[in-house]
Amino acid sequence: MIPDTTDYQAVFNELANQAQQIDDVGEVASYIPELQRIDSDKFGIHLTTVDNRNFGVGDSQEKFSIQSISKVLSLVLAIKLVGGKLWQRVGVEPSGTPFNSLIQLELEKGIPRNPFINAGAIVVCDVLVSLLDDPKQQLLEFVREITDDQTIDYNIVVAESERKTSYINTAHINLMKAHGNIYNDIDTVLELYFHLCSIEMNCYELAQTFLFLAYQGVNPFTNKQVLTVSASKRINAIMQTCGFYDEAGEFSFKVGLPGKSGVGGGIIAIRPGKYCIAVWSPKLNAKGNSYKGMKILEYFTTRTQCSIF
Ligand code: DON
Repeated sequence: MIPDTTDYQAVFNELANQAQQIDDVGEVASYIPELQRIDSDKFGIHLTTVDNRNFGVGDSQEKFSIQSISKVLSLVLAIKLVGGKLWQRVGVEPSGTPFNSLIQLELEKGIPRNPFINAGAIVVCDVLVSLLDDPKQQLLEFVREITDDQTIDYNIVVAESERKTSYINTAHINLMKAHGNIYNDIDTVLELYFHLCSIEMNCYELAQTFLFLAYQGVNPFTNKQVLTVSASKRINAIMQTCGFYDEAGEFSFKVGLPGKSGVGGGIIAIRPGKYCIAVWSPKLNAKGNSYKGMKILEYFTTRTQCSIF
């Protein structure tokens, strides 16, 4: 591997200036009351390279709700447990619809288009509930092991806030249960899903956690094989095509990296062979992705002239 000598800190200093000048017309997610309490002006970035160089600016050490970014982690665990059999119950096609849309799910008889829309992530949780004795605890231990950080945790207040407003997710799981694609008790599966979404990390922790996807499935610091080379390729592929719901094309077009967003305002993106970058800015665009985060990542890959394309 050719050593990457890019001065990312200089680029980040430019980005921080750039970020201040962006007229952020986004809005903080309000459909989960607990997420609305966040200071909407927060902004952080962190990048970790596969040879362990670290660069950060802004609120990169402050934890936030990573929300749907965690769907990558539950997917990784499910693939480790059941391998390719997972694809009998969830597809790998972009949905082109919002993350919580029910329309396709009815037409496609309870088989979600991909594991990152809510329905797909709920099926993944069902798989974990079937196979693990204590799914909530074991999922958390798995995340802590990948991250090599025992302090990573659920935010139970956010999980509870999510549960109280879970009307659409409840509709999803009922529809899939009716079609025979949910095997376990609905409340047990949703409980795992709400906790999954409530995991908290800061930008530094996110960049460290997902670095294995930039290094063919291996955590370059611990040398632990999180996934096979082939499975790591597939996760990156699904992030590239489905990581931003009905804005996946736009992210691919403007940023050019596999990535995943969450309604907490976080985005991670992977440059295979080089780095993982995490951005946090809580105000979301109309598609539910961080408004400023998308713009800053576009600026970043344009400025460094480095994407996967
Ligand atoms: O199920 C939900 O509504 C959320 N907790 C997760 C959604 C999410 O982050 C979608 N992302 N961009």
